[in-house]
Amino acid sequence: MLEDLYLMINKSYLSGFSFYVPDTVLTNNDLEKMVDTNEEWIISRTGIRQRHIAENQACSDLAFHASTQALEKAKIKSDQLTHIINATFTPDAYVPNAACVLMEKIGTKGIPAMDINAACTGFIYGMELARSLCALHPEAKILLVASEVVSSRINIQDRSTRVLFGDGAGACVVSRQPFSPEVQSCYIQDIMLKADGSLSDLLTVKGGGSAHPMLLGQTVTDSFFVQMEGREVFKHAVRSMQSICLEILEKNNISAEQIDLFIPHQANIRIIEALAKKMEIKQENLFINVQDYGNTSAASVPIALADAWEKGRIKPGNLVLLVAFGGGFTWGASLIQF
Ligand code: UT7
Repeated sequence: MLEDLYLMINKSYLSGFSFYVPDTVLTNNDLEKMVDTNEEWIISRTGIRQRHIAENQACSDLAFHASTQALEKAKIKSDQLTHIINATFTPDAYVPNAACVLMEKIGTKGIPAMDINAACTGFIYGMELARSLCALHPEAKILLVASEVVSSRINIQDRSTRVLFGDGAGACVVSRQPFSPEVQSCYIQDIMLKADGSLSDLLTVKGGGSAHPMLLGQTVTDSFFVQMEGREVFKHAVRSMQSICLEILEKNNISAEQIDLFIPHQANIRIIEALAKKMEIKQENLFINVQDYGNTSAASVPIALADAWEKGRIKPGNLVLLVAFGGGFTWGASLIQF
């Protein structure tokens, strides 16, 4: 296809994978004291042991820490950046966008800075946007961040969502050329994105949006927070991630056994294991860190990618498959070659 040929000529690379999570850790035992839940339920139903929670830190603060590390690892200065893309559904404010706040914090100006919202698929959507910008601008050096303070949109009385989510950020730099040989980079071989708005009511944060405006003096209601039909979302997550993985593998003439590391969105260990079983992915080729961070929405995939790299789970020459699913519904997959 013409599009594939174009992308072969206009390759793009990810460098400087980094992540940051806030210091405060909320364990399952802590949660037992706050809502009607228990460690056994949380571990058996989700695999989550702890999550990190931001205290007096906004989306741009978490993004700042992850971005500073990413720039350092990619060995570039913030004033060399050409674009900033921040994937989030929990920005500091409606206006300004969190990417503009971040830009001031990292000390650059005069380049485009935008937030995008594709819920938990935000990082992979951001990758596609970044590589399109690379194709258009040969000198592009794009800071791609996914940063979420999900706790700011969780009803602290709702046990069904409170135990699941955590806060964090992941960042990298996207460019048309890999940087110097001592900077670890990977080539973006392919990306596929999908969405289905007909199922949007299964996972929402409606309150405060223009369809559900907050009125002066009105107290916050449930709709202000994440609301999810967990069982339904679970089924769609497994089905959609499986089908997009099969599609991207088939398109690239790759079999699942050729994937060295499979990095899925970290929402629930049961979703990850069900997906791995259907895809016949062996445990040693599967990366899981949901036990440590919970579901950090858009930040989950870049946190897992950077964590896998730091833990030595990715070696030069490895082929990695990223896949995510989230509200909207949105889902996406990417093949990256180290
Ligand atoms: O990030 C992208 C999208 N998000 C996801 O992918 C999440 C998808 N969904 C899930 O991960 C799972 O559906 C959950 C973890 C949210 C829930 O697990 P489940 O096995 O689907 O449980 P359930 O919602 O069917 O609830 C089972 C029971 C219910 O009690 P009854 O009605 O059977 O008496 C719930 O009230 O578990 C109860 N329950 C809890 N019990 C203790 C729900 N939350 C809790 C809790 N502690 N925190």
